[in-house]
Amino acid sequence: MTSISLDNTPSKSPSTPSYADIQGIVANDFEVMDKQVFGSLNSKVQLVMSVSQHVINAGGKRMRPLITLLCARMFDDNPSEQAMHLAAITEMLHTATLVHDDVIDESGQRRGKPTANATWDNATAVLVGDYLIARAFNLLVGFQSLPLLQVFSDGTCDIAEGEVLQLQHQHNPAATEEDYLRIIDGKTSRLFMMATQGAAILQDKTEHMAALGDFGQHFGNAFQIIDDVLDYSGDSDVMGKNLGDDLAEGKPTLPTIKALELLKDSDTEGYEQLRIAVQTGKTPNAAQLIELVNKSGSLDYCKQRALDETKLAQQALSSLPDNRYRQGLYQLTELASARLV
Ligand code: IPE
Ligand code: IPE
Ligand code: MG
Ligand code: MG
Repeated sequence: MTSISLDNTPSKSPSTPSYADIQGIVANDFEVMDKQVFGSLNSKVQLVMSVSQHVINAGGKRMRPLITLLCARMFDDNPSEQAMHLAAITEMLHTATLVHDDVIDESGQRRGKPTANATWDNATAVLVGDYLIARAFNLLVGFQSLPLLQVFSDGTCDIAEGEVLQLQHQHNPAATEEDYLRIIDGKTSRLFMMATQGAAILQDKTEHMAALGDFGQHFGNAFQIIDDVLDYSGDSDVMGKNLGDDLAEGKPTLPTIKALELLKDSDTEGYEQLRIAVQTGKTPNAAQLIELVNKSGSLDYCKQRALDETKLAQQALSSLPDNRYRQGLYQLTELASARLV
């Protein structure tokens, strides 16, 4: 099925390829990057190695590095080795945020395996997460590029701030969609922006920084909104992590924020139950509350918001070089919004 685009947005491919197909566009780069993620760990402390390898070996889609690799090739079909190296660094930073996130969320499963905090303990997970961030910056210094360091250090501060903001809103049933967007902008979308803008700096295409920033931000927003929807409606085996955690943690994600808004006028009792669950994090009736959120119409709203963000991400691609790598980025947004990756 082809679609006619009325604006300058890149058009859809005849059929949406799989994640493996998109990975295949940069197959060699991807393989080098994947080895580098692993090979870049060089701590002299055995426990640091064991914990980092545990999380990195567990898998993961390597989506942020894939974005960096596609961007680098979009600008130059023969990118420098540095692009693969930078891609590996984005995955290292991502892994660090997951290790920290699982401590904060008290999550027991990640990438289909027990989390670092569950396997060792919180203190170990926090410190090894810190090591991964420090090591990422250690490697970034090797590029001898102040602009790159600037983007990555600003971005990493924003990610940390996003997580702190999220913590501040834990147990806050009055959190708004605006609060939520600020949180996900920091904790998730910022790294997508770094993954794209980093490639532009390396390939000396800084005139595209704004478009790439827009792409990364909207793509990241869409990705996180879908992730939050799946916490209410997904399959734990497919996702490789525990679902239902957000409500149990009293985390006001968009599905809850919108459900509260919709229930307020239509189902006073349901509204009050959900409000108290967010406020206290106590959910003896979790299955019933999840059902309530599903029935409220909130998830449809969230899916539409994710589609809007996907569309904005796709529009941001229109000023970038039109080639199969840009097409790959476009297809990645399609897959992510359908959450087939
Ligand atoms: C998980 O990211 C964290 C979110 C931003 C929702 P991914 O879903 O990309 O996790 P991995 O890397 O594939 O495990
Ligand atoms: C995303 O938040 C984590 C980061 C961006 C650090 P979530 O808490 O929703 O991620 P999952 O669901 O645990 O993967
Ligand atoms: Mg989490
Ligand atoms: Mg989640």
